[in-house]
Amino acid sequence: MNEAADTSIESTLSENRVFPPMGTGRLKGATWRIDSMAEYERLHARSISEPESFWSEVASELHWFEPWDSVLSGEMPDSRWFDGAKTNVCFNCVDRQVQSGHGGDTAIIWESEPLENGVPETKLITYKDLQRETSKFANVLKSMGVKKGDVVTIYMGMVPELAVAVLACARIGAPHSVIFGGFSAQSIADRVHDASSTLIVTCDGLHRRGKVVPLKENVDSAINELSEGPTPQVITLKRCHNEITHHDGRDHDWHDLMAAASDDCPCEPMEAEDTLFLLYTSGSTGKPKGIQHTTAGYMVFTYLTSKLSFNLVPDAGQVYWCTADIGWITGHSYILHGILPNRVPTIMYEGAPNSPDESRFWSIIERHQVTQFYTAPTAIRAFMKWGDEHPNKHDLSSLQVLGTVGEPINPEAWMWYRRIIGGEQCPVVDTYWQTETGGHMITPLPGATPTTPGSCTRPTLGIDAAVVHADGTECAPNEGGILVIRKPWPGMLRGVYGDRDRYIDTYWSTISIDGKPVYTAGDSARLDNSGNLWIMGRIDDVINVSGHRIGTMEVESALVSHVSVVEAAVVGVPHEIKGTALAAFVTLGQGFEPGDALIDALKAHVAKEIGSFAKPDQIRFAEALPKTRSGKIMRRLLRDIAAGVENTNQDTTTLEDLSVVAKLRESQEG
Ligand code: WT7
Repeated sequence: MNEAADTSIESTLSENRVFPPMGTGRLKGATWRIDSMAEYERLHARSISEPESFWSEVASELHWFEPWDSVLSGEMPDSRWFDGAKTNVCFNCVDRQVQSGHGGDTAIIWESEPLENGVPETKLITYKDLQRETSKFANVLKSMGVKKGDVVTIYMGMVPELAVAVLACARIGAPHSVIFGGFSAQSIADRVHDASSTLIVTCDGLHRRGKVVPLKENVDSAINELSEGPTPQVITLKRCHNEITHHDGRDHDWHDLMAAASDDCPCEPMEAEDTLFLLYTSGSTGKPKGIQHTTAGYMVFTYLTSKLSFNLVPDAGQVYWCTADIGWITGHSYILHGILPNRVPTIMYEGAPNSPDESRFWSIIERHQVTQFYTAPTAIRAFMKWGDEHPNKHDLSSLQVLGTVGEPINPEAWMWYRRIIGGEQCPVVDTYWQTETGGHMITPLPGATPTTPGSCTRPTLGIDAAVVHADGTECAPNEGGILVIRKPWPGMLRGVYGDRDRYIDTYWSTISIDGKPVYTAGDSARLDNSGNLWIMGRIDDVINVSGHRIGTMEVESALVSHVSVVEAAVVGVPHEIKGTALAAFVTLGQGFEPGDALIDALKAHVAKEIGSFAKPDQIRFAEALPKTRSGKIMRRLLRDIAAGVENTNQDTTTLEDLSVVAKLRESQEG
């Protein structure tokens, strides 16, 4: 197939294109771990019909202090994996590699954003280094009174110490709650409060596109926002050397504590179902949810999906790079927890893709001879816009597998990725999954699955995915429906922290099959005639902006908390780079005047309440919002108006006041 010949019609014709799996040409002597559809189908069928023997075989590739009594027990939504076993995630990421004689191998390749004399700073961190540093920091945590089960909040930039902090928590069984560095003080306060966390590990600042984001200052403000509970202790790593305020008795310096810490701290044998971490994610209501993942199942699942989706092979000269931030689930599972046990070096890059210029990523790939590259559709669309000249300046021929994650990838971006970055020599794996699923759910296997641009293709091993109607019956081919997972899988979330009802309501109450609840992902999908799955988008009030879920309710609450705003409705509008951007419609209180100054103030307010990434692109002022007679805001209508759709085909027969629509269309765009 020669897709290079005609790029202009890609986006319309691409659905029909099928790319057979690649040969082994680029694998430098390694092979595809699964190299045919027949093999995938055989393994998948077995993983569903005999999950216990399948997962116990996978698990026995890892280290256990004590074996399990049962592989799978309990009923969804309270499935338990590897009950009775004792293991430790840090041990499997780090100590196991040292014990098998690979202590001197590189575990993490870190690269700074700032350059000095045109050159970045690079650190090669071995498993031995990680063992020493995580042991020391684990002792620091203990010296601060952190015990097994205590939640440690981590709010840092992409520095090696972030990996050390996360793994040190796992080492002693203190669940980590990592907060992305783009979140604001208010968001930190909400998360610290929800998790009753008494220790925050942060940096003075983080480097982003040549600027310094003042993390410690945000932590100080967050602590000021906390009205109840004990004041958390703070450990600060000096990275940017920006000015910070020191609070005696509360603030501690990373380096001082580490200098005094012993490097002997054995890994705590953890129960299989002990919590490994919380990660907060947006939902359709205002309050973020602390998604709870446990130890053994998550470890086994991310280990296997890392190995198979990216074809990781130790000692084969591979260098793996995922460009996500560790503050998101992608970074948890596919920079650290799933990758390190596979003993392939993982890159952590500190900064932005366009710092100092738009070829930064490609220079990293060339310099470190990256073999697996994993990024997001929103980034790929930005690369396309910046122009082919940037990747074309660099030798990208080390690449073997290309991955994407975060949102449906448009076929044009998929084709560009395959052609320009992969030189048509690398399979593209479009991995569909969620914070809640812990790891990949639907994805091609690079050596086996024929791919079609825009489709995430097949359920991965152990995943029983289906597209169903509301009554649980399966949809016909190409009929859109609700994506469900019918069987438990090891990486599944085990709860929403402190909110059992929300766990059940959000994930396990929408659909049941044969009288039993099944997992609903909140996405719609369709299965095509060839057995490929296509994700069609969210079915709740959650908008995917640049590959991250933002609850419209959260942004609405933030807007309404501003003195001027009486009511707000936030909807998604198509956006060239972000995929979807936010548009807000607001009605103002008496005495407030619409205008550019207020638009800026409202955007700044959302940035302060949530973080800059949640700022609406458009803010429109309205005298009233379109509502049904029962008082529900007509979001679909607003979506059309925001997107500039002239003749909306939304049903307006229940609209309370038709003149509202005409006025909204006239409203100024911000
Ligand atoms: C939501 C999960 C998983 C890590 C990043 C986002 C959407 C994710 C894909 C994909 C289509 C995708 C879904 C999902 N999504 N990957 N390959 N194709 N949609 O994690 O913030 O938990 O968001 O992202 O809507 O439910 P998250």
